[in-house]
Amino acid sequence: DQHRAREKVLESLKLSREQLLEIKRRMKVEMERGLSKETHAIAPVKMLPTYVCATPDGTEKGDFLALDLGGTNFRVLLVRVRNGKRRGVEMHNKIYSIPQEVMHGTGDELFDHIVQCIADFLEYMGMKGVSLPLGFTFSFPCQQNSLDEEFDLDVVAVVNDTVGTMMTCGYEDPHCEVGLIVGTGSNACYMEEMHNVELVEGEEGRMCINMEWGAFGDNGCLDDFRTEFDVAVDKLSLNPGKQRFEKMISGMYLGEIVRNILIDFTKRGLLFRGRISERLKTRGIFETKFLSQIESDRLALLQVRAILHHLGLESTCDDSIIVKEVCTVVARRAAQLCGAGMAAVVDKIRENRGLETLKVTVGVDGTLYKLHPHFSNILCETVKDLAPKCEVSFLESEDGSGKGAALITAVACRIREAGQ
Ligand code: BG6
Repeated sequence: DQHRAREKVLESLKLSREQLLEIKRRMKVEMERGLSKETHAIAPVKMLPTYVCATPDGTEKGDFLALDLGGTNFRVLLVRVRNGKRRGVEMHNKIYSIPQEVMHGTGDELFDHIVQCIADFLEYMGMKGVSLPLGFTFSFPCQQNSLDEEFDLDVVAVVNDTVGTMMTCGYEDPHCEVGLIVGTGSNACYMEEMHNVELVEGEEGRMCINMEWGAFGDNGCLDDFRTEFDVAVDKLSLNPGKQRFEKMISGMYLGEIVRNILIDFTKRGLLFRGRISERLKTRGIFETKFLSQIESDRLALLQVRAILHHLGLESTCDDSIIVKEVCTVVARRAAQLCGAGMAAVVDKIRENRGLETLKVTVGVDGTLYKLHPHFSNILCETVKDLAPKCEVSFLESEDGSGKGAALITAVACRIREAGQ
């Protein structure tokens, strides 16, 4: 019957404990391939060195500039870090727009614009002409060759947003050695032993690795877990074949997986009385915030119907139950996959250090993690289950790209000064 037919489809999205352990195992293999000199070039999980070699120890101090280059806007921040009795971080920022012509212009034009904005900001802060160490955050993949390459300003650090997230939480919690983003996209970073970082000379100490874990599976190693819906979402995306793990996890794609399942159900007469509306054919209608609302436990089914109505989808009471169940299954799988990846990361840190047990904190940011009513709980439960020898805490990060960039700069300056 209809119920059985729908359940059968949803079964393909439910992962057993054994399957999750297998995914954890494969993630570990891919991490090692990314770190190794021999296999790095062909490894999908890039494991990029960030040249960030320490987390905050609380003795950092000084004034720092941070640049947060996002989509159409960018922010300039002044971050004041104090130690001792007045230990803490004070921030001031101003948002600047980037005109279309600059955005689409040359790198030099963009750079000139940024320099002008910094000058304007310093004048606004009453610090005209002052030269401060600067950290620069970006949230796209970027191969780095050092912490501070290519700029004419006193750029101390170019920062990935996962690293900013880790450092923001690291200022509050010395056990924070992992950063995780589960928002529009997904990525993670963690502190790796230098002797395992084959791409960088040196054996002593640790370095933060920007995993770029969204690309896990791009060599086909997750294909036996991907469903026809994952394949369909990937095909219609801007980068087919790329970021396959991210496309099963992050906010930009979960709604699309849901929509593809709903279309399948409807085509087979199992939903919406078999009528596919134009709305349902529209890409991107289920944003993270709607998925989060639909799954809210406080919400009565009537309100779920109201949300669907708001999205332009007319539903019966039965329809709304089915839609909610699809959302639940897709989000649950996302959280479990993320948990399997995270279990691989924390267990690797533990094994690296030859420890029987490891206490570690993961700094987390991103709208899916923060807004979804169940994602964080399922993630936490999964990590506990798949990495039982690690005691893992999750700490929400605020403004990793601003505050985090400044803290990375502060730590780099602390180390630089200690070495002089
Ligand atoms: C922000 C961080 O809060 O979260 C950014 O400061 C990060 O560095 C972002 O990129 C990710 O979340 P989302 O949901 O906006 O993609």
